[in-house]
Amino acid sequence: MKPVLEMKQIHKSFEIGTVNENHVLKGLDLTIYEGDFITIIGGNGAGKSTLMNSIAGSFAVDEGEILLEGKNITKLPTVKRAKDIGRVFQDPRMGTASRLTIEENLAVALKRGKKRGLTSGVKDDQRKIFKESLKRLGLGLEDRMKMEIGLLSGGQRQAVTLLMASLVTPKLLLLDEHTAALDPKTSQMVLDLTEKIVQEENLTAMMITHNMEQAIQYGNRLIMLSEGNIVVDISGEEKEQLTIPELLELFHKNSGTMLNDDALILS
Ligand SMILES: Nc1ncnc2c1ncn2[C@@H]1O[C@H](COP(=O)(O)OP(=O)(O)OP(=O)(O)O)[C@@H](O)[C@H]1O
Ligand SMILES: [Mg+2]
Repeated sequence: MKPVLEMKQIHKSFEIGTVNENHVLKGLDLTIYEGDFITIIGGNGAGKSTLMNSIAGSFAVDEGEILLEGKNITKLPTVKRAKDIGRVFQDPRMGTASRLTIEENLAVALKRGKKRGLTSGVKDDQRKIFKESLKRLGLGLEDRMKMEIGLLSGGQRQAVTLLMASLVTPKLLLLDEHTAALDPKTSQMVLDLTEKIVQEENLTAMMITHNMEQAIQYGNRLIMLSEGNIVVDISGEEKEQLTIPELLELFHKNSGTMLNDDALILS
């Protein structure tokens, strides 16, 4: 198995030197392999977003090394990583420009990682690609390409954001609770689209969720975080057979604590 991303002994603290100093990641090690579709679960404040932000380069980590396909990216700024790392956030308004049309947003996504020229606008050959891609979403958006993206519903917008994040095939796709702000039915639609895109494009992906059922249902590998540590990391057959009570038991056994996040248990 070929490693796509390696995190070695990563440390990250916030508000260093203040009474609020918070050592979130304490020597975290993680290797993500090509084709992995990892679901990440853990209580509020466990460090899930911090882990993802470290990968994307939203801030510098304090210690440790991050390698992308063997290349050290630890000190690379976010913009330089964005070419290889696609992201979708919880808030549908992030990741797209409200006042631009659907096709203009897609044109921006197509330029990711390339030098931005002065030429703007959408070319006919691009429009054809966008139409085909939008058709695959099955939401009829291919007929509304000149509509401002801000006018779409949250679910439609997340679907387009997902498309944008994968238009230029990323080496790694990061999804931080990207369906959490949607109603259950729309959330299901976007999750199914996620699975479809990940499978069809052979993406390597990592998805944070608060829903244990989803964490078990999607992907080939499940990681559970507690206080910045990976306490569960299971994949393949073992993951497929997993039930929620077994997952809770594993968490208890490995972390030495009971999971006391109602939102996580009840969702
Ligand atoms: N930019 C920041 N500045 C200060 N503290 C931060 C920052 N980002 C995260 N933290 C803190 O780090 C800890 C871990 O936060 P993180 O967002 O990684 O948790 P999470 O697992 O994603 O939680 P949630 O499920 O609530 O999204 C929390 O205590 C949080 O307050
Ligand atoms: Mg988070």
